[in-house]
Amino acid sequence: MNDQPRLWDWNALRKQGRGCHAARYDDAGAKEYAAIPGMGYLLPDQLAAHRADLADGMQVEAGLEILEVGAGTGAFTEVLAHFPGARVTATEPSPAMIRSWRDRMDLAGLTNSGIEIHEGSCDAPEDRSMFKDHQFDLVACRKVVNGLFDPLAAFANWYAWLKPGGRVLVLDAIFGRDGWGGAWGELVDVLPLSSTQSLGTIPYLLEAVGFEIEHVGWMHRVNALPSTRTPRYVVVASR
Ligand SMILES: C[S@@+](CC[C@H](N)C(=O)[O-])C[C@H]1O[C@@H](n2cnc3c(N)ncnc32)[C@H](O)[C@@H]1O
Repeated sequence: MNDQPRLWDWNALRKQGRGCHAARYDDAGAKEYAAIPGMGYLLPDQLAAHRADLADGMQVEAGLEILEVGAGTGAFTEVLAHFPGARVTATEPSPAMIRSWRDRMDLAGLTNSGIEIHEGSCDAPEDRSMFKDHQFDLVACRKVVNGLFDPLAAFANWYAWLKPGGRVLVLDAIFGRDGWGGAWGELVDVLPLSSTQSLGTIPYLLEAVGFEIEHVGWMHRVNALPSTRTPRYVVVASR
């Protein structure tokens, strides 16, 4: 056995997984993502379906201080920015995504609405210093948890950044192994939530860092759209 070539070095691959998104969403990757409806931006029916599904999962009070992690090209930022009286701060590790995000905020007429974006990740213990403890009412993300390098570190940071009583809002999808093709394929086995098939995994991990689960459910309207290929779900939890 020992003489065989070492084709599989999980530790080496795992190390490469840290920060992989900033590298993979380069200019071409961000441009490609930005152009896909439902991903880089939401068409009116997709926007309406997101809003309706969110209303099932949580009550939105006016004036929330919101942190969106992994904002990408801003598709979900637009949804959050229209919560009544909300103030949205976003983070995103890929500079190319941030450029697309700024373009989208311009297009959506949101540039001068007090919305801001920081370059950075959210799933390393050292990321915690990016924001103050107890700064936000809501930490939200869409299609981010499946790609986190260190989900528990991320959830612990979110917990710290939230005010007591604050909530997390996670939207994600039931991605399978085969959804991770091309340049992303090798990451499927080093990103722990890359292809979870159960709605139980995210709530379990959120509970592990101290959150209480308020809602776990399918996004029925989004999932009924012909443009949705991967079933989406929502998790809401409170601190
Ligand atoms: C599939 S995109 C989703 C973008 C956007 N949230 C949306 O709804 O379209 C995933 C995004 O998460 C970002 N991301 C990945 N790991 C991250 C991390 N550790 N912290 C913050 N953002 C991260 C990626 O750079 C990418 O822009």
